[in-house]
Amino acid sequence: MKPETKFDPPEIQNCFSPEAETVIFQGDCLDLLRQVPDKSIQLVITSPPYNIGKSYEKKLDLQVYYEQQKEVIEQCARVLTEHGSICWQVGNHVDNGAIIPLDSLLFPIFHNLGFVMRNRIIWHFEHGLHCSRRLSGRYETVMWFTRDTKDYVFNLDPIRVPQKYPGKKYFKGPKAGQYSCNPLGKNPGDVWDIPNVKSNHIEKTEHPCQFPVELIERFVLSLSNKGDWVLDPFLGVGSSIVAAVKHHRKGMGAEIIGKYAEIARERTRAAMMGNLRTRPMGMPKYDPLLAGNKLTIAPWATVQDERQLRLLQTIAEYKP
Ligand SMILES: C[S@@+](CC[C@H](N)C(=O)[O-])C[C@H]1O[C@@H](n2cnc3c(N)ncnc32)[C@H](O)[C@@H]1O
Repeated sequence: MKPETKFDPPEIQNCFSPEAETVIFQGDCLDLLRQVPDKSIQLVITSPPYNIGKSYEKKLDLQVYYEQQKEVIEQCARVLTEHGSICWQVGNHVDNGAIIPLDSLLFPIFHNLGFVMRNRIIWHFEHGLHCSRRLSGRYETVMWFTRDTKDYVFNLDPIRVPQKYPGKKYFKGPKAGQYSCNPLGKNPGDVWDIPNVKSNHIEKTEHPCQFPVELIERFVLSLSNKGDWVLDPFLGVGSSIVAAVKHHRKGMGAEIIGKYAEIARERTRAAMMGNLRTRPMGMPKYDPLLAGNKLTIAPWATVQDERQLRLLQTIAEYKP
């Protein structure tokens, strides 16, 4: 029997229309972008393929990849409002062991279109491939661009994070004795430590590289307002639209692979009904030591083998 629902979620359209509030287009993002009017989107946020031969992409000559990205970025620039933002989240292209940071490759495209970079955010995470011929990659970047205007949307308050020393006071001057911190919290800075979506993550689907929704929520809240459009041209399983819907924005995206577009629809519907479980913004990271996880106890603590490292024990026993 179908579970009872209190209300039907708003419709998810397959193509753009001026009345639409949510659009999931299955196909090439350029075909969706061509439907979208000039200067109508407040926030473009995406993570394109990195041209590294993942299951959803064909590894291309780097120049061909660059030209393809340029065409999509030009269309995104066309549809962006005067006060809007484009956020391009990328890692490295890897070729025969040599890494090419995609933000340096793609930056000139934005620069030549007259965009101004406001931040290059380092997204740090802990899980990924263990490399043996170089250091394991544990960060990617998000390039945030606006047009060359002072008047771009930037709402800091909704994304503030707790102060380190909220009890700190001014010790001299006219405000001596008063609390010096903003009670709403501090600016989160440009290094973000947010768990990436691997097998134990509550949001994990079959997509190999999905965004954690909380990463996108920060951009949605700070770079758009309620009712604005948020667009992701490389939608995957819909994390950007989920973040948009959660915060009462309109969400639109294109995904070329049918099964991912279908998962994006399911997740978006669940988000609209308030039934999608996502990792809450600002939730502290799991600390296996604090949680008393037994796997943190290294067997070589009892089996004496001088060749083994004892990093975890050293941290746990350290008392300044
Ligand atoms: C890095 S993934 C993005 C994952 C997404 N951020 C999420 O949270 O699920 C890039 C996605 O772009 C899709 N894609 C590749 N080329 C595309 C194109 N020309 N148009 C639309 N989607 C495309 C791929 O199938 C893949 O799912």
